[in-house]
Amino acid sequence: MNIRSLLCVFLWLVLNITGPFIAALEEGNVLNGVFDHFLEDLRDLSDVKKLNVKFSLRNPSQPDDDVCYIVRGKAETLSSCNFNHTSKTILVIHGWTVSGLFESWVEKLVAALYNREKDANVIVVDWLDTAQDHYVVAAQNTKMVGREIGLFIDWIEETSNVPLENLHLIGYSLGAHVAGFAGSHTTNKIGRITGLDPAGPDFEGVHAHGRLSPDDAHFVDVLHTFTRGSLGLSIGIEQPVGHVDIYPNGGSFQPGCNLRGALEKMASYGIFAINNAIRCEHERSIHLFIDSLLNEEAAGRAYSCGSNDMFDRGVCLQCRKNGCNTVGYDISKVRKARSVKMFTKTRGSMPFRVFHYQLKINFVGQINHLEMDPAMTISLYGTIGETEDLKLSIQEKITSNKTHSFLVVTEKDIGDLLMLKLKMEDSSSSLLNLLSSWWSGDPTDSGLRVQKIRIRAGETQKKMVLCLKDPQTPGLAQDFVFVKCKESWRSSSKRSKLKSH
Ligand SMILES: *[C@@H]1O[C@H](CO)[C@@H](O)[C@H](O)[C@H]1NC(C)=O
Ligand SMILES: *[C@@H]1O[C@H](CO)[C@@H](O)[C@H](O)[C@H]1NC(C)=O
Repeated sequence: MNIRSLLCVFLWLVLNITGPFIAALEEGNVLNGVFDHFLEDLRDLSDVKKLNVKFSLRNPSQPDDDVCYIVRGKAETLSSCNFNHTSKTILVIHGWTVSGLFESWVEKLVAALYNREKDANVIVVDWLDTAQDHYVVAAQNTKMVGREIGLFIDWIEETSNVPLENLHLIGYSLGAHVAGFAGSHTTNKIGRITGLDPAGPDFEGVHAHGRLSPDDAHFVDVLHTFTRGSLGLSIGIEQPVGHVDIYPNGGSFQPGCNLRGALEKMASYGIFAINNAIRCEHERSIHLFIDSLLNEEAAGRAYSCGSNDMFDRGVCLQCRKNGCNTVGYDISKVRKARSVKMFTKTRGSMPFRVFHYQLKINFVGQINHLEMDPAMTISLYGTIGETEDLKLSIQEKITSNKTHSFLVVTEKDIGDLLMLKLKMEDSSSSLLNLLSSWWSGDPTDSGLRVQKIRIRAGETQKKMVLCLKDPQTPGLAQDFVFVKCKESWRSSSKRSKLKSH
């Protein structure tokens, strides 16, 4: 077989196998199959067990150990477990489990909570017996488990006069709905419920009484990390269910989890590659929350936005009128009649926080639009650091005399922005034409030019205008340098034309 026929075979494979596979992935068919399998693992465990809910007050020095249980009706267990009546009480509620054991995140979250709130009562709710049932059964049982927790909370309130405003329920996956049912069963309203990627199957689209909802506490905040819009079945619930619902990275495909990569590897590594990626995406909600407890000074920021597409164009980075909020533990309790959807980008590991920038670029020229979209990268230089070669993702066709908005994020804090470099990656002939006409100063040329870039920094809320540094530079340099200049940030209708001599 010669090279050419090998190449043909390769292309055939790519087009005929990968193509439909990716298409199926986009439509969710492959994932649906995967989830069915994921759920099926449990079917043999589905014998009915009696409800067994335990409340373990964890100790800051042994966050992984159940050393003391508080038992409803036995007031002496409160004192024997050193329950502190004056401090915050936090209940951690796990989700559905395959192993019947606590997952490793539980002790990490407990330790992080104690790290922040030294005197808190961190109570781990253990409903493992019920949670290791077949998913559908476990989901049905969340109501009963929630009621049990509600009774426990009422009892604590009566016995120790703890104001329920000081009570915070943190529930993961099915545990988020358990927390919701608990909140709806208490006599008085509890202070806060945090839902960490609340489970989707059997809860999506259900009436507020049948899932976590803003009615369940004075403040309900939610992190969504594994929602897939195109799926009939999404592991994490897609709809907003709290007062503030944050969708990091759009609510799916979390960086560092490599779900896309796992789906591609499925053929060789089987379903396990997928299971790990699914767990990583779903559990990311917990690790974002742990991050917010441990790295208070480096808290991520989320921005209210109509859709993830709009967020990806950078148009939602305003903070006024509660337009932004803090991700995780230190979120501001904003309560509106309708739930607020917020978006943020993150890094692939802790600390997750990134810095968001909106770039507004006006392309000026005689032609309507470019034949092809240029591949543009930018580098940002600030007072305390720099970050280079960030891809500008082009969401719509570049058109002349129109302001295009882009979202750019940096992993490191560069301080106040001083300079920007714009680079055209592609060197195809049409782009060379674009570049030469860019510099020619010839009013009859066919290119598009950029004279200034307006920037809004989400984290500092600072706005600035950067102007092309050296408009007269001849040649085909690929880097265009923009520096700070005194121009108003708002786009003016009358644009000053570049003078050429
Ligand atoms: C209980 O918590 C408060 C703060 O809420 C703290 O000042 C006090 O020392 C704690 N009591 C005990 C016995 O740890
Ligand atoms: C863009 O605006 C400039 C200056 O106002 C004008 O000369 C040019 O024809 C416009 N381009 C298009 C494609 O309308």
